[in-house]
Amino acid sequence: MNGARILLAVSGGIAAYKAASLTSTLVQRGAIVDVIMTAHAEQFIAPLTFSALTARPVYTSLWDAPERIAHIRLVREADIAVVAPATANLIAKLALGLADDMVTTALLAARIPIVLAPAMNEAMWEHPSTREHIATLRARGYEIVEPDAGFLAERERGVGRLASEERILQTVERTLARRRSMDGLRVTITAGPSREAFDPVRFVSNAATAAMGIALAREAAARGATVTLLLGPTLLEPPHGVTVERFTTAQELHDLALGPAAGADLVIATAAVADWRPAQRSDTKLKKNGDDLTVRMERTPDVLAAIGERKGATFLVGFAAETDAHEEHAREKLVRKHLDAIAVNDVSRERGFGTGENALVLLWNEHERRDLGRAGKPVLAARLLDAVAELMEAR
Ligand code: CTP
Repeated sequence: MNGARILLAVSGGIAAYKAASLTSTLVQRGAIVDVIMTAHAEQFIAPLTFSALTARPVYTSLWDAPERIAHIRLVREADIAVVAPATANLIAKLALGLADDMVTTALLAARIPIVLAPAMNEAMWEHPSTREHIATLRARGYEIVEPDAGFLAERERGVGRLASEERILQTVERTLARRRSMDGLRVTITAGPSREAFDPVRFVSNAATAAMGIALAREAAARGATVTLLLGPTLLEPPHGVTVERFTTAQELHDLALGPAAGADLVIATAAVADWRPAQRSDTKLKKNGDDLTVRMERTPDVLAAIGERKGATFLVGFAAETDAHEEHAREKLVRKHLDAIAVNDVSRERGFGTGENALVLLWNEHERRDLGRAGKPVLAARLLDAVAELMEAR
């Protein structure tokens, strides 16, 4: 952790006293630690403890030194934020984006990875509200260090104890290592469906939401990459800190990918590009003149194949959406589109689309494969980037 800048946020639970020991260990391991606290945390432990341990000022209020705008400066200077302990109240505020004190404003302004170590009574931890907030934060890329089971302050046994210091430290170290693993790499990601219109209000498209591409863009940016996200029509929000170029049609994606976004070190194509488009587009809304409508379709450009043909030193990763003979079809695409690797997912019965879980297998070379398992898309994005980084290094 030598020289790592860590912002430690302490909220008001009985486990706040353990944050002092965590701070001391971080400092001993060479980190530069800034501590911010909620007003409730001050009821459990004094700021003085943390300022003595870190030899740095501790911020508990937005109004301590407002001219220094500490909540923005601190998150800009830090490599990572750690919230320990995180109470149910703070977790809810983070999930909702409330910003009414030093801790919540700083974390809302954070574009750095955030490690969250919850601690609370078991009933509060299991409450549907807390479950939903945790799921929201996890989907946004927060690293959650699950609480341990054991003796709780209420003199009951249950799940809710702050995770052990060792587990928190391991997560911090892993997250810090990841943060630097793609430093300086230029990454382009295509995501979302395309839409091919046949009149001003009607189009051909598919069920893609861009969730996988957005998760990959967020994860790559968190690892230090300079990310361009070529994003199709979706209601999902693109992540902070990446350059977003919007496309609607396959042709527009083609022009962006081979024009301004060309020449990246790594391209990952998750976009579900329409393979056909209406050969003609009416400028006025089509009227129901007869019972049937025949729309003749023509092929769209294969964006990934076009990148593959002129990829130079770019490491090129495709996705394959398959409903049958998955790996066989994907291997054929790997060769035909000149890819370095391809991630296969099963889209039969609309699986694989949306923000839920997915299962991926990564294929490369003639026979190599790695099963990335079934998980939420942010988790799969991290696993995929781990695997791709290894392959890029080996090359
Ligand atoms: N792709 C693309 N441009 C297209 C079609 C697909 O860039 N016009 C990319 C996708 O982003 C994905 C990969 O090609 O990374 C494979 O997409 P998929 O739909 O599985 O395969 P297709 O090439 O369309 O083949 P098929 O429809 O026959 O399965």
